[in-house]
Amino acid sequence: MTATFSNYQDYDAYAPADYAVWKQLAERQLTALRAVASADYLQCLDELHPVLSPNHPPRFTDLNERLAAAHGWSIKVVPGFLPVNEFFELLSNRRFCSSTWLRSEDQMDYLEEPDMFHDIFGHIPLYLNKDYAEFAQRLGALGVKYADDEERVTQLQRLYWFTIEFGVLRQEDGELKVYGAGICSSYGETKHVFQNPEVQVVPFDLDTVLAQDFVITEVQMKYFAIRDFAELWKVVDELEARWA
Ligand SMILES: [Fe+2]
Repeated sequence: MTATFSNYQDYDAYAPADYAVWKQLAERQLTALRAVASADYLQCLDELHPVLSPNHPPRFTDLNERLAAAHGWSIKVVPGFLPVNEFFELLSNRRFCSSTWLRSEDQMDYLEEPDMFHDIFGHIPLYLNKDYAEFAQRLGALGVKYADDEERVTQLQRLYWFTIEFGVLRQEDGELKVYGAGICSSYGETKHVFQNPEVQVVPFDLDTVLAQDFVITEVQMKYFAIRDFAELWKVVDELEARWA
C-alpha cells in the first residue's frame, strides 16, 4: 500500500501484497526479538496476540480496545511526521500517532519515513506496560508545558529518541536487551546493536542524553541503557523538579 493519507484506517484497502509484507516483517522480527528484546516488550507482544500477529495487518479498532482497557491509550492516524508540538500534545493525551500505509516488498529493510510496521509493531506493544505508558504521557506533558522553550523541546526530543525510539536496557544479570521502537521494528537495527563492534552502549545518564545530538537518517552508534522502566519515571521527576 502506498502512502496516501486519510485520517482513519481503511482496512479493506490492504491488498494481498500488504498481508504478505506484514507477515514477512512480523515473522522475521518475532524470531529476531525473542532472544534480545526486553521481557516487558515481549510480554506485551504476547498479550496483544492475536490482535497483533503475522497473520494479518493489525486492525486499529481492535488494538484501540486493548490499549484503552490497559492504560487509556489509543492510536491517532497521521500522514507521517507531525510538528513536534502536535506530537507531544497527542502523547500528553495518551494518543500515539501511526501511519496506515505499509512498505512494499522491495523496501523491507529501508524506509525514509515510518510506516505502519514501525509505528505499530515497534511502538504500540509497550503502551500495555504501565510504567512505560506513564513515562510517555509525562514526557508529552512536559513537551506541552514547555512548547515555547526551544531548548527544552530539543532536549525532550533527545530524551524521546534515546528511550522510546532507540532505548536499550541492561538487565540485572548484565545482559543487554532492546525496547526502542526503531530497533524492535527493524531487522537491520536489531542485528546492528548486537553485532557491530563499533556500537557503544553506555548507562543512561540524563545530562548526557539531553546534550546528545542525533541525526534521524543515520544509524545509531551510541545507545543509552536503562535498568528498568521505573528509571524513566525518575528521569521525568528530575526534569519536572529542575524545570519547575
Ligand atoms: Fe518511531
